[in-house]
Formats: sequence, C-alpha cells, structure tokens
Amino acid sequence: MKSFSALALLSFVSVAVAFSEPAGHEFQAPGPNDQRSPCPGLNALANHAYLPRNGQNITVPQVLDAALVGFNFDWPVFLLVAKQGLLTSTDKSSETMMSLEPLVLHNLIELDASLSRSDYQNGTGDSLHFNETIYSVLANSNPGVDYYNTTSMAQVMYQRLQYSKATNPTLINTQKEVNGRGGTAALALTSMGNATTGVAPKQFVDILFREERLPFLEGWKPSPVLITTDLIGPLVGAMVAGSNWTATQSCEPIVSGPGNSVDTAA
Ligand SMILES: *[C@@H]1O[C@H](CO)[C@@H](O)[C@H](O)[C@H]1NC(C)=O
Ligand SMILES: *[C@@H]1O[C@H](CO)[C@@H](O)[C@H](O)[C@H]1NC(C)=O
Ligand SMILES: *[C@@H]1O[C@H](CO)[C@@H](O)[C@H](O)[C@H]1NC(C)=O
Ligand SMILES: *[C@@H]1O[C@H](CO)[C@@H](O)[C@H](O)[C@H]1NC(C)=O
Ligand SMILES: *[C@@H]1O[C@H](CO)[C@@H](O)[C@H](O)[C@H]1NC(C)=O
Ligand SMILES: *[C@@H]1O[C@H](CO)[C@@H](O)[C@H](O)[C@H]1NC(C)=O
Repeated sequence: MKSFSALALLSFVSVAVAFSEPAGHEFQAPGPNDQRSPCPGLNALANHAYLPRNGQNITVPQVLDAALVGFNFDWPVFLLVAKQGLLTSTDKSSETMMSLEPLVLHNLIELDASLSRSDYQNGTGDSLHFNETIYSVLANSNPGVDYYNTTSMAQVMYQRLQYSKATNPTLINTQKEVNGRGGTAALALTSMGNATTGVAPKQFVDILFREERLPFLEGWKPSPVLITTDLIGPLVGAMVAGSNWTATQSCEPIVSGPGNSVDTAA
C-alpha cells in the first residue's frame, strides 16, 4: 500500500501544478484594432477580458471593477487616476468613457523615468510600448534571489532617474512624478506578490511587464488580501525614501487634456 499511496501522492502533485486560466479570462494578445496603454497592468486586464479586449470606451466603474476582480485592488486605489483617464480625450463619449491608448497623454498619468517605457522626450520617444532595454534595469535587479522587493525597486527607481537625467533634456521630475513612479512600482509588487511585504516573484513580475499577461499558468493568483491604499502607502514611502530622490523642478506641468497643458515647470 505504501507504493500505492506514493503514486497517489505523485499524481495529486502533478494535478495540483497543472494551473489554468479562469474560464472566459484566457490570455489573448491584442489584435490590430485593439488599443493598449502605457500601463502593463491595464493592458493585462484587457488581454484577459477583465476590461473590453478592444481597449475602448471604458467607464470609470469598469476600470475599478476590473482591477478589483483581476487583481483584488480596492476601488480607492485607482479612483483618482481612473477619473483622470476621462481627461485624456475630447470626443463626445469621453464625458463618461476612456480608451486605453489616449492614456499615454504625457504628464497627466504617464510619467518620465518609468519602469518599462521610454521617456516621451517632447514627442520623440515611445512612451506607449514596452521597451526591453528600459526594463532590463528592473529585470537585472536584486541579483542572486528570485524576487523583487521595495529595496531593489528603490534602486531601480534611482537608476532609471539617473538615465533620464542624462538623456532627456525635457525630463519632468517633481513630487508628483516620484509619487507616481513609487505608486506604479508598488502596484507591480503588490499585484504580483505579497501585498503586505511587497515581495514579488521575479517570474510573475517579468511576465506581467514583458507579455502583459497574468501568470495564472505559472501558479499566480490574485492577492488573497484586498490591496488597499493602507497597504500600498507605506511601500511607496519606503521606495521613494530608498531611491534618494531629489526634484528637478518644483512645479509640474498642469495637463488637463490633449493640447491643454500649462507649463508651470518651465
Ligand atoms: C466608442 O464610442 C464612440 C462614441 O460613442 C464610437 O464612435 C466608437 O465607435 C466606439 N468604439 C467602439 C470600439 O465601440
Ligand atoms: C519641446 O516642444 C515644444 C513645443 O513643440 C517646443 O517649444 C520646445 O522648444 C521643445 N523643447 C525641446 C527641448 O525640444
Ligand atoms: C528603447 O530604449 C532604449 C534606451 O533608451 C532606446 O535606445 C531605444 O531606442 C528604445 N527602443 C524603442 C523601440 O523605442
Ligand atoms: C530585498 O532583498 C534583498 C536581497 O535578498 C535584501 O538584501 C533586502 O534586505 C530586501 N529588502 C527588504 C525590505 O526586505
Ligand atoms: C542612497 O544613499 C545612501 C546613503 O548615501 C546609500 O547608502 C544608498 O546606497 C543610496 N541608494 C541608492 C538607491 O542610490
Ligand atoms: C505575506 O507575508 C507575510 C509576512 O511574511 C505573511 O504573514 C503572509 O502570510 C504573506 N501573505 C501571503 C498571502 O502569502
């Protein structure tokens, strides 16, 4: 009987590691008429049909529900930024809806020195699509272990800003940007890893950024605890502090829509 139970255990283990994607939420890469944003998390939600796969005409509650169901993010985490999303276009439907690509509008939600996109560089840089060279700073961080954490993310934030300072003459780097950069780093760590400690497996984070896919097949699941602003706040604080940040400007451009920017930074 001993060998039988060992066999039974083995088959149980092999069943247990055959992870699958939730029905109706299978990964599907975007088609030619589907829109995607500069944010890998939003794109992954669309690639798994938590948001409309076409990435268009999405309401604020749809964004908040998708982040809740897909990642277990509490509504208040994205409430402000989702409302800002409505400002990124001026067509009539933008009264109540946003589409993913216009979220690239520079200095509203999209910021310089991000983890995975080039800087806008006054229109000459691609701030919309994933860039492996930019991402390699994060991908090579925390060597020797298989996870990222707030310490390694703070180092990445520091290095990414040094690169932007050296290569981007139109860099915008105020308190707003560093909060946003710390915020996106915290979203990556909490959505892919432990939302309390901010420790996330490299494999999961890399799949999210590189493939804009939720790593269900590798064993990832949405956080078992609701990811609240109370959990995210201290992680952002730790990363901003650990990144030895200093401002480049004290005032930020005020962006209120496409073609509507008051350059208080100049
Ligand atoms: C989005 O809404 C606008 C305005 O109502 C409409 O013209 C457009 O066809 C819609 N796009 C999709 C993909 O439904
Ligand atoms: C950035 O673009 C604005 C508007 O086109 C222009 O006035 C400004 O000179 C540009 N700055 C740089 C550094 O290219
Ligand atoms: C990706 O980023 C690198 C480093 O900034 C840059 O040299 C390269 O042109 C970017 N690639 C694309 C396709 O924008
Ligand atoms: C992050 O991981 C590194 C490498 O294991 C470790 O030295 C560091 O203390 C960790 N940071 C935190 C906040 O635990
Ligand atoms: C921040 O400064 C401290 C003190 O000089 C240093 O030990 C640490 O390595 C710096 N961190 C980064 C990310 O540069
Ligand atoms: C997150 O880490 C804490 C501290 O190590 C641990 O108590 C908790 O169980 C972890 N949560 C999950 C979901 O693994």
